[in-house]
Amino acid sequence: MIHLRCSDPKCATTLELHERAVACPRCHDLLEIAYSPCPLDPFDLQARWRRRRGSHDVRDRSGVWRFREFLPDVYAPEQIVTLEEGNVPVLPGWRSAAFAGLARVQFKHLGWNPTGCFKDLGMTTGMTEAKHVGAKVVACASTGNTAASLAAYAARAGISARVYLPKGAVSLAKLAQSLEHGAEVVEIEGNFDNALTELLAKGSSDLYFLNSISPFRVEGQKTVIFELLDQLDWRVPDFIVVPGGNLGNTAAFGKALEELKAAGLIQQVPRLVVVQAAGANPLARMWREGRSEIQPIENPTTAATAIRIGAPRSWKKAIRALHFTNGLALDVTDEEIAEAKSVIGRDGIGCEPASATTLAGVRKLVADGTIDKDASVVAILTGHVLKDTDYILKRLRAPAEHRAGEPVPVATAVPAAFSPGVAGSNGHSSEIKISVPGSIANLGPGLDTLAVAVQLYLNLCAKRMSGSNELRFEFKNVELKGPNSIERAFRHLAAKHPASFPSLEVQVSSDIPLCSGLGSSAAATVAGLRLYETFAGPCSTEELLNAACELEGHPDNAAAALLGGLTTSCQRPDGSVVATTTEWPEDIGFVVLTPELALETCASRQVLPQCVSREDAVFNAQRVALLLQAVHTRQYSLFKEGLCDRWHQQFRYPLVPGLERALALEHPDLLGVCLSGAGPSIVALGERNLFRIAKVLSGCYAPLGIPYQVHILRAHPPCDLLSREANDSEYSLSPTLTPHW
Ligand code: F0G
Repeated sequence: MIHLRCSDPKCATTLELHERAVACPRCHDLLEIAYSPCPLDPFDLQARWRRRRGSHDVRDRSGVWRFREFLPDVYAPEQIVTLEEGNVPVLPGWRSAAFAGLARVQFKHLGWNPTGCFKDLGMTTGMTEAKHVGAKVVACASTGNTAASLAAYAARAGISARVYLPKGAVSLAKLAQSLEHGAEVVEIEGNFDNALTELLAKGSSDLYFLNSISPFRVEGQKTVIFELLDQLDWRVPDFIVVPGGNLGNTAAFGKALEELKAAGLIQQVPRLVVVQAAGANPLARMWREGRSEIQPIENPTTAATAIRIGAPRSWKKAIRALHFTNGLALDVTDEEIAEAKSVIGRDGIGCEPASATTLAGVRKLVADGTIDKDASVVAILTGHVLKDTDYILKRLRAPAEHRAGEPVPVATAVPAAFSPGVAGSNGHSSEIKISVPGSIANLGPGLDTLAVAVQLYLNLCAKRMSGSNELRFEFKNVELKGPNSIERAFRHLAAKHPASFPSLEVQVSSDIPLCSGLGSSAAATVAGLRLYETFAGPCSTEELLNAACELEGHPDNAAAALLGGLTTSCQRPDGSVVATTTEWPEDIGFVVLTPELALETCASRQVLPQCVSREDAVFNAQRVALLLQAVHTRQYSLFKEGLCDRWHQQFRYPLVPGLERALALEHPDLLGVCLSGAGPSIVALGERNLFRIAKVLSGCYAPLGIPYQVHILRAHPPCDLLSREANDSEYSLSPTLTPHW
């Protein structure tokens, strides 16, 4: 059952879905759309949404309607008003990350929607409803973007559009869009808040309101989170950062996360961070002062005109979103916005000023320690760089205007105060960060030979202390069971070199589960070696590889942790190791199921036979060759045969319940299954529908009653590729590249 409901849970008055109302008739709080709990299986849903990306159905091509199980899906396909909105990328920003003091930052660029702004996502749902109820005129108050989007979608729907804009306070590009799409423009003396008040006061039955207080708009905007998580293979980031104006987006993101959690599609929730401009900061102020009511700002001021709003209407919903996600609100000055915007521009991405509040806010939160430098952070860019070119020209060409006749200098927009991997002005200049990937070893027949580095990381953050030769470790989310392999590796190299080393305080965090066959100890060993290298100067790959193998004992995992990619390693009779790496095909992903069974590698080794027959040796040698050839020629149908093995997996059945069943699985999307390393993690390979594969693989474990985790992973590329890229781009963020202090 879908209906409208008051967003205040204490009131919870319900109305029929198509009632033309935005506020509760009893308590006047905003309305929202309420659904019955979603009965569908989370893996099925994820697989279905992924599959729709390749479809030509108009509803599937829209990055909003593709997620219709969580939308008011009550319209015939031909009724839907769409410009194929959504489908926007998630882009890493290397300079932006260095600027903020983070290891990495990703931007979800909603400015790459049809009208250049996120508003289109809510407009497709809002306009479809307006058409469904027979609206003749749609209207909104706007700082420019909502108006442009409303104008375009109304034109598609064949409905008249009227937009109320604060006079002289809207960028010309946005005004031009509204005019181009045929909207009637009403200019209001005053600001956005005055325009919205004036519009709402009309209360005319002829006008259908489409500001973000419309519950239908919120539904479309929710899908930002759905598309983002799909793009991240449902790995939930630590932080999602969004600009705040009228707070419709914040409300929508909070609702999306509540619904996804309730439906079991996510287990953890990212922290939502709302960033406002300092001159238009009622939410940030309320948050900072710990008040329970918002105090409107009468004359909001900021050069980020899109968010020049003093009385945000969706503030209660936004507060609910912040509480639900353990989020926070803050503000940034116009100068900070301008600085961040120019860095985003220099990353080749660009955005309008309001969007840059996100990076400016992240930088502040990293500096004050709220956001850890290794955290995964997604900043939402809400508008396109071309939305406000006046702003750019005023800022970057201003000095030239005083010198008429002289050529305009090329402006340097990137602030000087940061440099590769070292956020100077944030005061982190003596920190070293190192990330080393986990790995899947053996790949069936390649016992002690093959491995692939995967995107699970062990992260170190080391700071210099006074004194020398002392190492102090702090383990953040790792429980150290045996000896500290990082320290051991570090001291191993240190013992070989005569010089003393500065004392270090090292923070360690890791996503690689311990004792699970995913190369956690090889990653720790390589991390220790890399750390030593940061100030002793680079060691040769051979020296590092041999040291890692000597300490850790597994040339396959050690090679993958060190070199990345798909590695082949072999040991010479004198114990030294030769290893080589190549790219693992990008289109092949791994579904890794890790049962909660601690399995020590030595126990898993003991069950292996001392000798194998010639027939079995030939069998495995053939499979290793076939598997490598299948990778190089991208003949993935050969994987199944290439992953067969007679050397170790069958002997490990008694130690790894469910393994025998998993190896025998058959499914059209499944390219093959193998044990990862010595287990107990089991890996399934697939080119598409990884969620469906996850479900099939989970089917082997669910009946056993053993708890397990499933990760969907991609390969970590060969490190020489990374370092080449990093050298080119000047900002070295490669996991295994280590800046020198
Ligand atoms: N970013 C941009 C580019 C915007 O245009 C807006 C809002 C926001 C952020 C803030 O989003 O209101 O959901 O918190 N623009 C509205 C408009 C007010 O009329 O175009 P919010």
